[in-house]
Amino acid sequence: MNLQRDRSAWLHGPEKVCQVQPLHPAQCRRFVLLGAPGVGKGTQAALLSAAFGTCHLSTGDLFRRAQACDPATLSPGLRQAVIDMQAGHLVSDETVLQLILERTACLTCQGGFILDGFPRTVAQAAALDVLLGQQNAPLECAISYELDPDALAARISGRRTCPVCHGVYHLLTRPPREPDLCDICRAPLTLRADDWPEAVRVRQQAYLAATHCLRDYYADRDLLLPIDAHGTPEEVFGRTITALTERAATPDA
Ligand code: AP5
Ligand code: MG
Repeated sequence: MNLQRDRSAWLHGPEKVCQVQPLHPAQCRRFVLLGAPGVGKGTQAALLSAAFGTCHLSTGDLFRRAQACDPATLSPGLRQAVIDMQAGHLVSDETVLQLILERTACLTCQGGFILDGFPRTVAQAAALDVLLGQQNAPLECAISYELDPDALAARISGRRTCPVCHGVYHLLTRPPREPDLCDICRAPLTLRADDWPEAVRVRQQAYLAATHCLRDYYADRDLLLPIDAHGTPEEVFGRTITALTERAATPDA
């Protein structure tokens, strides 16, 4: 069973019901993933999702889905969000928080969540704290993936994605089984609209200006879990599991 193929309530909004129900309701895990563009958040989210039966909730996937829609069917906020995303700019907090509020049920789902790409500003992090506090659904931790800039550039330049299931591939480090076809959907893989060099530069600036400081935000709340993101996806995943296990064994973590 592939949890990545559902996420209906997240991707399509509250009117949709997920067909795949949580696998391990007794082990409800709630994580935020932090890290620069291209560090591997989506790749690790897929591995964590498979390990814990927890949904991978990416705000970037929401905007890429909107990008694939007829603009006439989108709200003015989402139309602007698609323009901002393609240029590499952050989408406005107002639009992001509206989407999150509409998806509160995903945050309180008994299967837990892995948030990827949200929060991205201090205002978003504060709003998430309020929402989770109201729902009595505390975060376990914010996993922060750390990688040097040269390695980031190499990861982004070779990325290909599936427009149907949002699966992530890399020409060298994670090639699909058949050239240019998604292993799961067999849809032709595409280059992301925001992966051209100028948009990547803008995204990196936005990350440094607005998102990097979230490390301090979560450190101040004893929720930060930094992870070295060098090495293969499996090595990074192994490091993450070890760190989560050690944290769980630490009193008051
Ligand atoms: P989003 O989709 O969140 O993009 P991002 O944060 O820029 O991160 P990426 O998806 O580019 O990288 P990733 O860390 O997921 O890396 P990946 O696993 O793909 O957001 C896109 C845009 O949407 C934003 O710019 C903004 O406009 C808007 N947006 C979204 N959320 C928002 C919010 N909350 N507020 C405002 N605006 C928002 O890996 C990269 C590549 O490396 C892949 O090819 C992969 O196969 C490869 N790879 C991964 N790990 C490894 C490894 N260990 N070794 C070798 N290769 C690896
Ligand atoms: Mg991603």
